[in-house]
Amino acid sequence: MHIFRFVAAVAVLLLPLYPAQPVRAKSAMVVTREAHATDVGVAALKAGGNAVDAAVAVGFALAVTHPSAGNIGGGGFMLVRFADGRKTFLDFREMAPAKASRDMYLDASGNPTKDSVIGWRASGVPGTVRGLETAHKKYGKLAWSKLVTPAADLAKNGFPLSYGTALSLKSARNLAASPESKRIFQTNAQKNGDFFEPGDLLKQPELAKVLERIAKHGAEDFYSGETAKKLVSQMAANGGTITLEDLAHYKTVERTPLEGKYRGFDIITAPPPSSGGIGILQMLAMLEKTDFAASGAGSAKSIHFMAEAMRRYYADRAEFMGDPDFYKVPVSKLLNPKYVDARRATIDADHATSSDEVRPGDINGKESTETTHYSIVDAEGNAVAVTYTLNGGYGSGVTVPGLGFLLNNEMDDFSVKPGAPNMYGAIGGEANSIVAGKRPLSSMTPSIVLKDGKPFLIVGTPGGTRIITSVFEVIVNVLDFHMNVQDAVNAPRFHHQWKPDKLLLEPGISPDTRLLLSQQGHSIETVNAICEVAAIQFEADGWLAGASDSRVDGKAAGY
Ligand code: DON
Repeated sequence: MHIFRFVAAVAVLLLPLYPAQPVRAKSAMVVTREAHATDVGVAALKAGGNAVDAAVAVGFALAVTHPSAGNIGGGGFMLVRFADGRKTFLDFREMAPAKASRDMYLDASGNPTKDSVIGWRASGVPGTVRGLETAHKKYGKLAWSKLVTPAADLAKNGFPLSYGTALSLKSARNLAASPESKRIFQTNAQKNGDFFEPGDLLKQPELAKVLERIAKHGAEDFYSGETAKKLVSQMAANGGTITLEDLAHYKTVERTPLEGKYRGFDIITAPPPSSGGIGILQMLAMLEKTDFAASGAGSAKSIHFMAEAMRRYYADRAEFMGDPDFYKVPVSKLLNPKYVDARRATIDADHATSSDEVRPGDINGKESTETTHYSIVDAEGNAVAVTYTLNGGYGSGVTVPGLGFLLNNEMDDFSVKPGAPNMYGAIGGEANSIVAGKRPLSSMTPSIVLKDGKPFLIVGTPGGTRIITSVFEVIVNVLDFHMNVQDAVNAPRFHHQWKPDKLLLEPGISPDTRLLLSQQGHSIETVNAICEVAAIQFEADGWLAGASDSRVDGKAAGY
């Protein structure tokens, strides 16, 4: 008896401090924000598809089962690292329509209106369907229709709503503002027109028809076929800006991913028009020559140092970042070690620097509420990270009558007026001003970390400007604080974005730590949930560990 007690006591001592367990699998793993979509991804892999096929299938499935962010009316980024070492980044971000112009969201007195956020004028030209098609054509293996049909079936037959999704549908005010959105997403015809409750089936017959056409005719249906024609006639009838020419001109742009190193690991991440890759590389570089980690995860000291790095990076973001096809983003200057050293040197170890004292750095002259992320690894070791979005939750709130899909409000990611905050409080200037055909600056940061040249961590999240700091924190939690991936994802998060000068803390950060941080001069605000990360780690013993964020009801699954 005694010996058993002894063994049990030793076993407890050997366990890590707070081991939340990820889902483990030997060969392949899919982590998404919604259970049915994860199952669609796993099924694509089991049917012989590779990670890109699974990513395409998940992209369409989430457009049905996670309507606040999953989409065919929005856009996003796909980062791929193939098992043989090749890498690519597909930019299928929305584009400003030809009719768009610099001051289109300002009223007669020059003040921003709400038109970039809600209603028909808020949308950029959607990129998702073209982007998923490009990914499939260049890198997929399975037949296209096999990847789109599961989503069409989910839309046609319906799927039971999770607790979180039912609650979210009920409370979305932008859905209530659009008659078609209200009819589809807030009126359960089976229940006398009440709201949907958890477990109720959500059927989307109009969306099912669009997906069936896309399964049959490819992206052509969406960009010049029946769907395109119906979409632009509704646009014209409702004062929207997108035309058939805009749709016909939409292109996926294949870009070279951004790469950097941190403590011997290689980081592959999102290039402009994402601001995120520059962000995590610059912030990690600011940490690299310090011993910030010695004080431990969640300590006031490590949070202070990381928050000061965040504050400095976001000042640069506001000044120097935009669509690289329209504005020469000074990437190498922003990541130049001498520049980063100079930025680090301005951090005071004991006191918060006021944001008013932090300016965008001197880089020596310029070189001429909702998104979703999923991470996939297949049995060959191909790794895919996708973040795509309608921008705010349910985008512009507008569902196109007869087509059943929601449109993005991505135009709000432009700087509608220099210095005026967007819906995430981010400010920007010339680099991110509205120009026809330009893509708005993004924070989406799908990222892949390599160890000894092999995939080690796949990570990404929604959350607007908070995306960049959350990806940064999860990487630091794994690489510096040696947490397993589930702990790294669940750990309480914090965020600073220069302006407003506030340090946001999740409630899980201890009262003592808060006190220390406010004594250092940080202006603290508590926010309930910062982001929802989906990550996969390649563990040392050869197992894959999938982590869906404990903040949401997503699902990790593999085999
Ligand atoms: O591209 C961007 O940075 C934003 N459109 C992302 C929006 C987002 O993550 C909202 N999610 N909660």
